[in-house]
Amino acid sequence: VLIFASLFAMTVSAADLITVGYAQIGAESDWRTANTESFKSTFTEENGFKLIFDDAQQKQENQIKAIRNFIQQEVDYIVLAPIVETGWETVLGEAKEAGIPVILSDRQIKVTDDSLYVAWVGGNFLQEGYNAVEWLDGYLKENGRENEDINIVLLQGTIGSSAQVGRTEGVEKLLADRPKYHLLAKQTGEFTQAKGQEVMESFLKSYDDIDVVIAENDDMGYGAMEAIKAAGKVPGKDIIMISYDSGRRAFEKVIAGELNVTVECNPLHGPRVAEIIKKLEAGETVDKIQYVDEGVFDIKNAAEILPTRTY
Ligand code: AHR
Repeated sequence: VLIFASLFAMTVSAADLITVGYAQIGAESDWRTANTESFKSTFTEENGFKLIFDDAQQKQENQIKAIRNFIQQEVDYIVLAPIVETGWETVLGEAKEAGIPVILSDRQIKVTDDSLYVAWVGGNFLQEGYNAVEWLDGYLKENGRENEDINIVLLQGTIGSSAQVGRTEGVEKLLADRPKYHLLAKQTGEFTQAKGQEVMESFLKSYDDIDVVIAENDDMGYGAMEAIKAAGKVPGKDIIMISYDSGRRAFEKVIAGELNVTVECNPLHGPRVAEIIKKLEAGETVDKIQYVDEGVFDIKNAAEILPTRTY
């Protein structure tokens, strides 16, 4: 009887499930893995959803294909973490034509018609850029170095992604007001540890006076640390290390003294997107742009926060 009852419940609920297609970017970083996990653990049948997950392997054309497949499968909602800001009008127009609401998660897009998506939820990348430089101001002051000339290199994320665009803009805007800070070089490390290491190796060959690395994610920061160690220097001591995301590994590196600060970008968007969908299902309105609160973690607070990090 019990088996029959649960089978019956499953049949009834299966028809009521909300089908969601998630066009994910790839698996380039710890952040991305945590983000995927957040969606997979939230969009379960138990919670009333059927998730169709697509990993685009870091290619926009794959994300476009995935969206077209979702449209063909007549999903109820499309969630997109757009790899870059531009080039979405046509495919999102097709989703709109098919009557499928699109929710953007994590990164933003540039479109002239903002009715192509119902809502966006993610981090404030521009503010994250400011957070990095403002933390550096405080750190140099505390260490009596505020009057020194400071040479900085910037490891950028995927060029054209809103995470890269916002963080680079935030950093450069504040550097423009600080004549003692010198940006020696900037180059993409594509948000991966391997590429971050490669680019840092070339920076170290070109410049022997780097004071600060700003890596636009923790993974590129870990790669940079390897390159710095291989060059006979100590990351976190000889070179100040700043990166973004704030997963567990970053906290451990802060505590070990190899990373000076990790500027948070929160990846746990699954429940946030589910909340948006539930509101839309209930006929409620949702805020079009939803920024997530984010912190800054260095040696002063890392040990206290680490036990609470789930990713
Ligand atoms: O868009 C968020 C960024 O994408 C994260 O900082 C990075 O780790 C990820 O790949």
